[in-house]
Amino acid sequence: MGQEKQALVGIVMGSKSDWDTMRHCRDMLQQFGIVSDCRVLSAHRTPHEATEFASTAEERGLEVMVAAAGGAAHLAGVMAAHTVIPVLGVPMTGWSLDGLDSLLSTVQMPRGIPVGTLAIGKAGAVNAALLAVSILGTKRPELREQLKAYRRKQTEQILSETLE
Ligand code: RP5
Repeated sequence: MGQEKQALVGIVMGSKSDWDTMRHCRDMLQQFGIVSDCRVLSAHRTPHEATEFASTAEERGLEVMVAAAGGAAHLAGVMAAHTVIPVLGVPMTGWSLDGLDSLLSTVQMPRGIPVGTLAIGKAGAVNAALLAVSILGTKRPELREQLKAYRRKQTEQILSETLE
């Protein structure tokens, strides 16, 4: 049996209903060979378990945390309050306001506890993964090369597109 790879990124989301969006974050990390630990944990529905996950993230080898929630989205801020690893927040579209509520409550962290906030929804989920790769790449040259190759491929694909 081969050894399981160590998860470097924690992906937490406030509800299973966020997974359809957040699976794109997991999938993008997988493209770079990065294992993530994905959990449904809520700042208000499972407050003890959420803070426990954040408090023990570092000792479990996680180097980046991605936190996604909709509505009054305090999850990323709560996670960031309990760990010093970088926390990336992804606002989710909820049942109203098209995610603007979540965007503001994720991005407007008061001074002292930062959350790096990405775009609402799928674009944010994918970009959180790419930013996590950049962060992990600061100490891993092979990841930086993979990221450059990803960008080259993306450029080639855009330039090869034809209209009609
Ligand atoms: C938030 O409330 C979750 O992150 C989700 O985006 C939103 C709705 O949750 P459900 O009612 O679908 O479980 O806590």
